[in-house]
Amino acid sequence: MENNQLRIGDTTNINGKVIWNSPSNLAIIKYWGKYGQQFPKNPSISMTLTNSLTKTEVLYSARSVYDGNIDVDFLFEGKENPKFKERIKQYLLSIKEYVPFIDQLHFQIKSENTFPHSSGIASSASSMSALALCICSIEEKFFKTLKSNEDFERKASLLARLGSGSASRSIFNSWALWGKSGDVQGSSDEYAIEMNDHVHEIFKNLHDDIFILSKNEKSVSSTAGHSLMETNPYAEVRYSEARRQLFYLLDALRQGDIERFGSIAEQEALSLHALMMVSNPSYILMEPNTVKMIRKIRAYRKESGLPVYFSLDAGPNIHLLYPDHIKNDIIDFIDQELKPMCINQMMINDQVGPGPIQIE
Ligand code: PMV
Repeated sequence: MENNQLRIGDTTNINGKVIWNSPSNLAIIKYWGKYGQQFPKNPSISMTLTNSLTKTEVLYSARSVYDGNIDVDFLFEGKENPKFKERIKQYLLSIKEYVPFIDQLHFQIKSENTFPHSSGIASSASSMSALALCICSIEEKFFKTLKSNEDFERKASLLARLGSGSASRSIFNSWALWGKSGDVQGSSDEYAIEMNDHVHEIFKNLHDDIFILSKNEKSVSSTAGHSLMETNPYAEVRYSEARRQLFYLLDALRQGDIERFGSIAEQEALSLHALMMVSNPSYILMEPNTVKMIRKIRAYRKESGLPVYFSLDAGPNIHLLYPDHIKNDIIDFIDQELKPMCINQMMINDQVGPGPIQIE
């Protein structure tokens, strides 16, 4: 059905509710730099997490006048949040061309995260994907346009992308790729695709323990960071390097080559932060403990011979990546060496997960 047919005839007595739980994800090849309507400058690949989730509930009812505006009430973790509400309103307005019925309904949205508030964990991937999934469920209820799993996921990923680029990847089970790449058939800049079939078993329950080293709000947002790439002198080299790294990562994921995987993950994390440091104006999101922990992880890997690697998102917290079969071997290292460096010993145990789940 054409988007321009997605208009509800009679909205009298319309009332309903949808609820989705959607996870965050950790990119191994990073998306950093965008153009146009939130298209990526390079393809990225990520692991979908299990425990770092946003639960979003959308109650919808009829509006009596359709004035082109978005009519929304929003509660974040039980409280009003004018900043988030405005962001959601702007987002819903921006996706109107894809879901033209959106101004015919009044929305009451409630959202909460399973990971602690102000833990320094960015929630845009989980929250924007949860909201996009709810909107798609509403479309499916009224128009029956997204019956097949593939159509549903594709549209949810596209709508999620328009909220936050990385959110496009959270729609999928296990591993996802977003961005057109000559190396992957069916890949697109518009939406992400599932990569499960291209991934060796060892990566299907990979661990990601997140060590909270600062709870401060980021000094430079991801949105501002992406736009600083437009004047970054290393930008073009970066985009081409990301494509090259993607080729090697795909091979490592297929082969189950954890060492190659780990070395690419670390290079990508440090490249992301290097790009921030050479932006104009320059900025640093790592904290002294970030560097200290990186050194500890590398030294431990060298002396133990165990495959433990780190990654970073756009923030100071360390993500520790390791395969499931060594989890018992590294408990002491984590408890004695890494956990004490965290704010209030705060860490989150996470792992590759099954993707979003519809609750209602
Ligand atoms: O989705 P955004 O616009 O918040 O950008 C996120 C970018 C990184 O998290 C740093 C990397 C990535 O690919 O997730």
